[in-house]
Amino acid sequence: MDYKEILKEIKPSIAEREKVRKIAKEAIDYINKKSKKENIGVEAILVGSVAKDTWLSGKADIDIFINFSLEKSEDYLKEKGLYLGYECSNHLNGIAEEHYASHPYITSHIKGYDVDFVPCYKIANASQLKSAVDRTLLHTQYMEKHLDSNQKDEVLLLKKFMSEVGTYGSEFKVGGFAGYLCEILILKYGSFENTLKAASEWKNKTKIDLENYGTSNLFKDPLIAIDPTDENRNVAASLRMEKMAEFVIASRNFLLANKKKIDYFHEISKKIDFDKIISQFKDRKTKIITIKFNIPNVPADSLHPQLRKTQQSIEEKLESNDFSVFKSDYWTDENKIAIFIFELNVYKQNKYRIHEGPKIWDKKASSNFLASHPDISYILEDTLVLNKKREFETAQKFIKFVLSYENIHIIKIGKNLKDTIVDSYELNDIDYLLNNDAYLNDKTNISYFNDFLNFLDDFLNPGQLLKR
Ligand code: UTP
Ligand code: MN
Repeated sequence: MDYKEILKEIKPSIAEREKVRKIAKEAIDYINKKSKKENIGVEAILVGSVAKDTWLSGKADIDIFINFSLEKSEDYLKEKGLYLGYECSNHLNGIAEEHYASHPYITSHIKGYDVDFVPCYKIANASQLKSAVDRTLLHTQYMEKHLDSNQKDEVLLLKKFMSEVGTYGSEFKVGGFAGYLCEILILKYGSFENTLKAASEWKNKTKIDLENYGTSNLFKDPLIAIDPTDENRNVAASLRMEKMAEFVIASRNFLLANKKKIDYFHEISKKIDFDKIISQFKDRKTKIITIKFNIPNVPADSLHPQLRKTQQSIEEKLESNDFSVFKSDYWTDENKIAIFIFELNVYKQNKYRIHEGPKIWDKKASSNFLASHPDISYILEDTLVLNKKREFETAQKFIKFVLSYENIHIIKIGKNLKDTIVDSYELNDIDYLLNNDAYLNDKTNISYFNDFLNFLDDFLNPGQLLKR
């Protein structure tokens, strides 16, 4: 296939490149001047995909790292780093937002671009690492040295393909391939197409070790890509098995496609229709329970794992109480609310469950059991049992029981979620939620509502992005 047409669409033009570089330069010059004037002793530099020339047109996030020397304290780095970020953002008329993931940094919206100001330590190699972001400088230098200009184009094709089949992005919400991992794949396999050919043959626990460190046995992840700048890190550690599998299938589909190959570089056109979603749920003849609740004010990368953990724990407990969960998932607008959705094929029970006592071979235990339950015990195989009234005849009752301060300990709950979920949750079926929920139906939240519909569409019809 000839990729020139696609590259024309996705490769930043000279004008766009100059515009982005100019914003980056203004920010960097400002910070460095300010640092000199106030004797802060830092150096700002451009890192990430803009520095590496591996960013997709229209998608530039400008990563500026503020380097502190190793002997500076972490408090100093945090204080001065945020200060310089804010000052620079103001100077360039940006709108700044503070983030605390594992590390404090500032994102500012400047002239239509997101600019990240990230304080870090200036390290010469991975052994000096003080915080996780410190590697980024080494990554940038490595790729600047090793990627030639053809390979940069191949990286763009891979990133674009990954984006459109839904496997790009290492943030927890996606659990897919990081930009740096795409670059490593291109260095390993040489081109976009060779990467897909290799991926179509991947096995579980595929190993990539560009620098032949020989450390891949340290890791148990489904894909092991040893960081060429740090032998003790797997760049693919945050890649979920499912996303890796999706990429393998999308690669096979692409390689087998005849005419439609170009479509893999464009967004699929989905017709998302409210009534169709409702009728698809009806057609499945399952019971849908949604739990909507307010979210705490924590960064997205902390929120998502907490939501996943809680939703999975509720699913396990439903199962262990004899309800049967066909599928469950969660959605959040990352603003005010989150919604768990449980699709059950068994959602109500008979009145009794069988309670098992001892084996009849244990004479003493059997006599005791019979003595305490004289009229209701009976034998199943070689076990004494009795019928016990169930506490929860419906899944709803079980969920209501669990989502209270007294009983929430029954599930594993994300550490920041306990209060908001207990205090604010609402249980609804899907019809009611979509038609009547005040927040979702508020006109100002229309983009969230549409995102939720899109999520439900994927829930009902998974894997749509993997083929064309
Ligand atoms: P970005 O997520 O901005 O990646 O992280 P990127 O390479 O610039 O790609 P895009 O085009 O913006 O999507 C910035 C840097 O942080 C490190 C990498 O060095 C990356 O270049 N990083 C980020 C990782 O090593 N792993 C990650 O999962 C995320
Ligand atoms: Mn970036």
